[in-house]
Amino acid sequence: MSVGYGAVGWNRQKKRYDFFLVLGIALYLGAFMGAGAWLFPDVTAETLMIRAFGSAALILLHLILLVGPAARLDARFLPLLYNRRHMGVTMFLLALIHGSFSVLQFHAFGDMDPLLSLLTANTQWDSVSGFPFQQLGFVALIIFFLMAATSHDFWLVNLTAPVWKALHLGVYVAYGLVLAHVALGVLQAEQSPRLWLPLAFGFVLVASLHVIAGWRERACDREQPEEMGWVKVCSPQDIPNQRGVVVTVSGERVAVFRDDQRIMAVSNVCQHQNGPLGEGRIIDGMITCPWHGYQYLPENGCSPPPFTEKIPTFQVQIREGSIWVKSLPLPAGTAVEPAVWGGES
Ligand code: HEM
Ligand code: FES
Repeated sequence: MSVGYGAVGWNRQKKRYDFFLVLGIALYLGAFMGAGAWLFPDVTAETLMIRAFGSAALILLHLILLVGPAARLDARFLPLLYNRRHMGVTMFLLALIHGSFSVLQFHAFGDMDPLLSLLTANTQWDSVSGFPFQQLGFVALIIFFLMAATSHDFWLVNLTAPVWKALHLGVYVAYGLVLAHVALGVLQAEQSPRLWLPLAFGFVLVASLHVIAGWRERACDREQPEEMGWVKVCSPQDIPNQRGVVVTVSGERVAVFRDDQRIMAVSNVCQHQNGPLGEGRIIDGMITCPWHGYQYLPENGCSPPPFTEKIPTFQVQIREGSIWVKSLPLPAGTAVEPAVWGGES
């Protein structure tokens, strides 16, 4: 909901969240290096730093990937989702420090340019035990850089939401590269399952949470049967006051809201970052996106002035005690008469 681009403000909650994020990372790095120096006195400080920052980035990357499906399964995780971009930028910085120390340690003391050495020193692509795993980490770091550099809403608006979203789905490619980087580079030298186990556990956790969240959403994606261009949704009592339900109509997700006696339907997709409007609520008479609070008037899908976002609306009827939604959307921002329900609110 913005005039130019919609920067999400830096509020107290975000500052508190960032404080705990930085504190948690500082405690982790301190504990890792302290315990490492005590348990393995032969390991150099540089190696400990490389390992501390690399593992901190990896743990944060797992948290970032878990937040999305966790918030789809349980709304209590939503506050973490709002702040996921801060986690992403922090993770990139940790990985950058890890990568920079590695380049310094392993590539800076020869005749060759350190970056060239990183990319060309090892070319055993056909060997598992000697695979050039550092290049994989480098490519992942480039992807994280592109994501961190375009994380601001300015880029979301200028690149357009679909392009921005596609770019940020690159996190899954980078995750695969990082898993291969760690598995091939470090773990192959390990005889004990000490490091394999957490890596495999992290992957199984991320994969299974995504599968469970996707499976749950399939129930909502089940198409409602159409009768003469209208689709039966549910009865008005099934929608809590000032809340919505999400149904799939002609392949599109539609959010059907109840505000006391009035029933209205709009597209479920928020113009900001495709947030699920149907999971939001009506605040001050406006549908409020659960992700970052963009607002839309339910009767015409327009953000209140001076904001300019618009979403498609749908015609609604109440017949024989049930809500019916017209299967074809109206153009974004079209005013529609709400259906009025005669029952108790
Ligand atoms: C330019 C990019 C990168 C370079 C040159 C690089 C280099 C290295 C090297 C040399 C090691 C072995 C360190 C050792 O002796 O234990 C390593 C391990 C590791 N790297 Fe990277 N890396 C890069 C990017 C990344 C990224 C993007 C991540 C994750 C987000 C990452 C996560 C890790 C982890 C978790 C380990 C294992 C740490 C441990 O031994 O506990 N690396 N990396
Ligand atoms: S406000 Fe950000 S996705 Fe809706």
